[in-house]
Formats: sequence, structure tokens, C-alpha cells
Amino acid sequence: MALSPTEARAAAAAGCPVDHEAIARAASGDAHHGYEPFEMKDPFPAYAELRRDEPVMYDERIDCWVVTRYDDVKSTFENWETFSSENAQAPVRERGPQATQIMKDGGFTAYSGLSARIPPEHTRIRAIAQRAFTPRRFKALEPAIRENTRKALEAMLASPDRTGDFLAEVAYDIPTVTILTLLGVDTSRVPTYKRWSDSRAAMTWGNLDDDEQVPHAHNLVEYWQECLALVTAAHADGGDSFIADLVAAQGDGAEISDHEIASLAYSLLFAGHETTTTLISNCIRVLLSHRDQWLQLIDDPSRIPGAVDEVLRFSGSIVAWRRKALKDTEIGGVAIPKGANILLVMGSANRDANVFENPDVFDITRPDARNHLSFGFGIHYCLGNMLAKLQAKIVLEETLAAVPGLRLADGADIGFRENLSFRVPLSVPVTWEA
Ligand code: HEM
Repeated sequence: MALSPTEARAAAAAGCPVDHEAIARAASGDAHHGYEPFEMKDPFPAYAELRRDEPVMYDERIDCWVVTRYDDVKSTFENWETFSSENAQAPVRERGPQATQIMKDGGFTAYSGLSARIPPEHTRIRAIAQRAFTPRRFKALEPAIRENTRKALEAMLASPDRTGDFLAEVAYDIPTVTILTLLGVDTSRVPTYKRWSDSRAAMTWGNLDDDEQVPHAHNLVEYWQECLALVTAAHADGGDSFIADLVAAQGDGAEISDHEIASLAYSLLFAGHETTTTLISNCIRVLLSHRDQWLQLIDDPSRIPGAVDEVLRFSGSIVAWRRKALKDTEIGGVAIPKGANILLVMGSANRDANVFENPDVFDITRPDARNHLSFGFGIHYCLGNMLAKLQAKIVLEETLAAVPGLRLADGADIGFRENLSFRVPLSVPVTWEA
């Protein structure tokens, strides 16, 4: 007979070897506390249940141990010697035979730029990349980001019926133009890079069957070939870009190969905009659904950086990220076998009441919002975090000034793309006062 949750916990505490909680859940048809790995519309109630009842849970559907409490997520990120990131870019769904052949024939040999590399290789490449990824470069980009924002807003606000999609019309292009500029790529290619990036997100973290993978496999081949071509072009012409800086560093003796530079380009031309488009969209979406706080920002724009961190805590662009156990170990007292995949759910950690007061309340004055884990933690901490926040800040400053009467369209029911890690809204329908 299945015990009640309280009885089951008491039995476990008394050392009973039978997992009564699992039996009770299986009997009720909910073996996973309502957690659906690819469902992104509103994962937060399931996260809360997991934190409370089974904070380290094996999920056979994705072959991962799902970790949901803040302290466990943070300490696992921190302990890179036991928990490696080598599986961070592995396809969640096995690649089908046709997609595999397309990628082989197309010479697809891309490997993660940094996030799935491990020390000492990771340490070597990150140090070189960081030297070329300077605040000077970010500063130089600031006027163009502001100008692009103004133009995008102006175009959206020209709509005669005063409706628009903030994601498609503003948030989509801005970070993409920024990262293409940083890497010395022609900015007219934004739609192409967005298509390739969508394919990368779907092929690695999506839930595609074999047939669905085929068009994305073609896109990834094109994308990788372009990254190789960018490195060849930088060798031939130099130029003023992040890739040219890396090629120059190589010429000066830095230990980095052309394949590694192309892999960095492959990473940045995805990581550098996909997540920031989402951050900017979330800033507008979440602030407009808490209109009192939108109005507070109009009165006091100096609160914008705090608001951006609170959006990252409350509604992060990446809600889960993977690690692999390199030896038999434990997380939060639960035994984890060597070789196990672990899914660190930052979207849940950021709502842990042991760390954040009233965690389900969105509050731009929260003093500790910056302690969110949306950029990871430890040696792989997001290299682009400052650039992402800078862009969100500029877009908010310009939008609040240009259209203080912005609102979410009445009855807007925003959907989210199916994915294991990236929580991407499909649109942000808005309207505004005359
Ligand atoms: C809101 C925007 C962003 C979010 C939420 C985000 C999130 C993340 C996360 C979760 C990681 C993995 C951290 C870990 O494993 O501990 C990461 C790594 C990384 N991110 Fe970001 N990111 C964002 C924007 C950017 C931008 C704009 C760039 C580049 C311009 C960038 C470049 C990178 C790189 C290169 C890494 C790998 C670092 C390493 O492994 O050493 N990210 N990011």
C-alpha cells in the first residue's frame, strides 16, 4: 500500500530501504512531481514541488539527475573537478542516421568554444578569449546599440494601429547586430544567423525526432563552414574584430589553433545573441506585467540595472544546464554514480526561499537579486554577462523614455518554445497610448 507523503518521509528518515515516496508517486501517475523537461510555459510550480519533495531526482526521460535547490546547484557548478561540463553541448536527443550523415558529409567538426571544454584546455582558451573580450570593445559598441534601439523603436511605433511584437521588432535584431559587429560579420546577415542559432538550440537542447533533425543538420553545416571561413578571412585581411584579435594573438605566440578560434566563433555567434534577445524580451514582458514597477523605473532610471538582475533571477533566459559526474559522489546527500548526467536547474535555484525572500514575487528593489545563478557559477561563469546586461539596460532606458505608455496587449497569452534549457518566449505583443 502507498504511504502518504508524510508517512513516506518518516519511513525514509527511519532508514526504511523501500522508496515509499517513489511508490506513492508512481501509484498516483506522477513519478516526476509534474516536472516536464521540455515544457517551458510555466515550469515554476513543478520546480517548487521538486525543491520541497525530491530536490535531487533521477529523470529517466532525459537520463539526468535533476537538481533544484540553490545550494546544491551552486556547489555543483563550483566543484568542476568532480562535475565536468563536458556534456553541456551534447544533444539531448540522439542524432538520427540521416542528420549524422549530412553533418559528416558537410565536414561538421565544430566543438564547443568554451562551455563544454574542461581544464587545462578550458583554462588556456578562456584566458586568451578573455584578453580579446575587453571592456574597451564593449564600450565602443555602446553608441551603436543605443542608435539601433532608437531606430527599432521608431519603426515599431510607426504602426498605425499602435500594436507591435516587441520581440520580433526590437529585441530580435539588437543583440544579433552587436555580436556580428564584434566578430566582424556583415550585419545584413542577421536573419541567417538567427536561423542557424534556432537550429543549434533545437538540435542540442530540443526534443526533435529523426526527420525533424534533417533541415537543422543542413543549417549547422552551413553555420560551421562560415565560422571556418571567418578565420581564413581574418588571416588574409586582419581587420578590427574579436576574431582578428585572436588570429593576431596566435601570430604573437598565443597557444590557440584555427579550429579553436572557429569554435569560439561558433559559440559566440549563438550564445552572444540568442539569450540576450530573450533577456530583453523578458525585461519588457515581466515589467509590463508589473506595471507599478515599470512606472518606478520611469521615475528613477538608476534602478534599471537592479531591475535587469531581478528579471534574470525571476525569469532567466537559460533555466537549466548540464554537468557530468567524474566519480561516484553525492549531491545534497543523494548518491550520484560516476558518469551520471546532472541537470542543474537555475530557474528553480533562483526561486529557492532559503536564499531569496518571497522568491515568487518580482521586486526590482530586491537587494540580493544579483545572487541569481542564471549566468552559471565558477570557472565557466558566462563570459558575456556584462555585454548582455549592458544591452538590456540600454534598451530599457530608451524604451522607457520613448514610450512610457507601453503595455502588454490585452489578453496576451505568451507561449514558450519547447526546450530543455532555453526558456524562450515566442512573442511579446504590445500596444501603447497615443
Ligand atoms: C542573458 C544573456 C545570457 C545568459 C543568461 C547566459 C548564460 C550562460 C550560462 C548559463 C553559461 C554556462 C555557465 C556555466 O557553465 O557555469 C554561459 C556561458 C558562456 N556564455 Fe553566456 N549567457 C548570456 C549571454 C552571453 C553573451 C552576450 C555572450 C557573448 C557575447 C555569452 C558567452 C558565453 C560564453 C563564451 C560562455 C562559456 C564560458 C566558459 O565556459 O568559460 N553569453 N552563459
